[in-house]
Amino acid sequence: MKFFFYLTKNHPGLPAAEAKALIKAFDGKVIKEFDNVLIAEAKGLKPERLALTHFSCELIDEAESVSNLDLAKLSSFPFNSFSVEAVKLTEKPVQSTQIIKKRVGSRIKGKVDLERPEIVFRAFVSHDKIFLTRQISKYSSVEERRVNSRPFSHPASCQPRQARTLVNLSGIKSGGKLLDPFCGSGGILLEAASMGVECTGLDLDGKSVEGARENVEFFDLGESVSVEQADFFEWSGGEFDAVVSELPFGKSSKLFGRTKKEVFDVEKVLDHLKPGCKAVLVAPEELEVPGLQQFFEQRIHKSLSKFVHVIEKD
Ligand SMILES: C[S@@+](CC[C@H](N)C(=O)[O-])C[C@H]1O[C@@H](n2cnc3c(N)ncnc32)[C@H](O)[C@@H]1O
Repeated sequence: MKFFFYLTKNHPGLPAAEAKALIKAFDGKVIKEFDNVLIAEAKGLKPERLALTHFSCELIDEAESVSNLDLAKLSSFPFNSFSVEAVKLTEKPVQSTQIIKKRVGSRIKGKVDLERPEIVFRAFVSHDKIFLTRQISKYSSVEERRVNSRPFSHPASCQPRQARTLVNLSGIKSGGKLLDPFCGSGGILLEAASMGVECTGLDLDGKSVEGARENVEFFDLGESVSVEQADFFEWSGGEFDAVVSELPFGKSSKLFGRTKKEVFDVEKVLDHLKPGCKAVLVAPEELEVPGLQQFFEQRIHKSLSKFVHVIEKD
């Protein structure tokens, strides 16, 4: 299937990296990339997973004008009600979005429902092309597990959109095993588990362990998550398909007597990763790490940035 991803511009480089990591995880390939658009081909990919994409869609056809689009393809989708939307990708689109909406809409049999359509056909219009798509998912869908909707949180709790981006960067698939060695209130575990990933979380702080368990139960994700109270540096669990974590950095996330240098040493993290798999580690500063593949700044708010390190084990 061909996918059309319309990415946000939230953090430089991150939306495209997140989508590409997911495409790669499903053995797909990017066919085209321009502005904040990615077009890709992949089988079995679940685009609902993406946190930094406005719209994930199935690409139905593309043409220079609406009269050259194969609108007969739209009748192959089963639906009772529909809506047609159009998004300008550029200041001067090749054809007016109003005309495109009207012409596409007039060729579709079924009831128009602008409030709750069963299917949304979305045209994306660049300076020289119209991309006709069927919408699969959109940006707002990860908000239900926001920090203030959880029974337990602390100042360092990770919001779902951030956590989801990190899990996706690791390229882990549903059914894979993920470790968060510093899980705190479980922000990363919640998102990974909601994607069908089996999760192990560790934290040395007893209150955080209880809180993470409470959060996991609250969202009915208990079956795929285990949370242990343990000092990661003394822990001898097995190897995982991904390690995704926000490292402790003092202040609201305790270091338990260790220095930042000790805690930011990623060798121990790599010991728990299977070869060829990825660790995605967040720190308040840029770390010097072996096997660094990608590095991003994730701006949380005006005065706070987190630094995302993607490391692949040989
Ligand atoms: C930045 S916070 C994690 C926040 C988490 N992502 C969340 O959503 O709540 C880091 C966590 O590491 C824990 N921690 C610090 N040293 C640890 C150690 N040696 N072993 C395990 N956990 C540790 C702290 O208690 C803290 O909860």
